[in-house]
Amino acid sequence: VTAVAALRCAADGLRVTWDDGATSCYPWRWLRDHSHDEHTLHPLTLQRLIHSARLTDDPAVTALADEQAVRLTFGDGAAMLPLDFLRAYRRPATARAHDDIEPVLWHTAAELDGCRHRYEEVSTTDEGLGEFLLTVARHGFAICDGTPASTEATEALIRRIGYVRETVFGGFWSFTDDLSKADTAYTSLELLPHTDGTYSHDAPGLQMLHCLRFDGSGGSSTLVDGFAIAAHLRTHEPDTHRVLSTVDIPGHYLGDDAHLRSARPVLRHDRHGVLRQVSYNTADRAPFLLAADEMNVLYDALAAFDALTNDTTRQWQHVLRPGEALLFDNWRVLHGRHAYEGTREMCGAYLNREDFESRLRTLAVGIATDSP
Ligand SMILES: [Fe+2]
Repeated sequence: VTAVAALRCAADGLRVTWDDGATSCYPWRWLRDHSHDEHTLHPLTLQRLIHSARLTDDPAVTALADEQAVRLTFGDGAAMLPLDFLRAYRRPATARAHDDIEPVLWHTAAELDGCRHRYEEVSTTDEGLGEFLLTVARHGFAICDGTPASTEATEALIRRIGYVRETVFGGFWSFTDDLSKADTAYTSLELLPHTDGTYSHDAPGLQMLHCLRFDGSGGSSTLVDGFAIAAHLRTHEPDTHRVLSTVDIPGHYLGDDAHLRSARPVLRHDRHGVLRQVSYNTADRAPFLLAADEMNVLYDALAAFDALTNDTTRQWQHVLRPGEALLFDNWRVLHGRHAYEGTREMCGAYLNREDFESRLRTLAVGIATDSP
């Protein structure tokens, strides 16, 4: 564990020399802003109690470090910052999520390994749930094997992860091919690889699907890694990648007394250039018209993307059976289904992305900390 070797009060902030020789500089206002004393940080809610905009920029009068904390006195007060906390911010770090789990891209289903987890472990232990969610974070999906084929058990499994997301389809749903909603998911038609919720500003982050009953033939589910396709395009078809990353495409949902609409590029990156979300749904695309040359370039780019999603060598294909609860990342993996004959009963729900991420943090799995 790195300890403090020296402290120095400079005009721009507290200079800390760590005992491994590294140095950090913490601005004075930042130190006041992040003090852990009970007047600055509520000890139970961990919420900030001070008004940061009113902090002064004066240097500390004294600065002392012991094994636990750095203690500062100012002309108008004091501050205390635990060493663990300062150590976590040894280097400047932007507000971008610092605990991202690195996705493991798969270009063929043969690269997938260990995406199955046992229900007994997932449903009863934190370790089991953590491993299951970590697989989803890394590979974009996982199967919980041995889930009782009931709506109750499936919903309970979902609620172990987070809230059930309410949408126009309700919360937890069970459905068959009865067209009870204005959506082809409620038919037995083939569904080509797509993402759900392109019409939502906050498309569902995750989806769980569990087949409760299937008497028939066909109906293979398909999954394809949209992040792997994006990586492929970036390398091999940079112009296509650029078009798909920059042209906003609107989606809409019409029916059931709703008119939802949103728009974003197929490949949405954050401003650091990190790919955050894939959105692709031909059925739900809303009408729009660009200048003819731009429109034609977009159709070409969509055709190239579509060909990759329908390349069967890229697809994981599997006829879901009762007991196999599938959880997948709807911001990354495109899902589809072959046409089927017979009777198929599915249940499941959407989950919000933030709740999935929250559960990963509370289970403390796979999270890279900033500590050196
Ligand atoms: Fe879907």
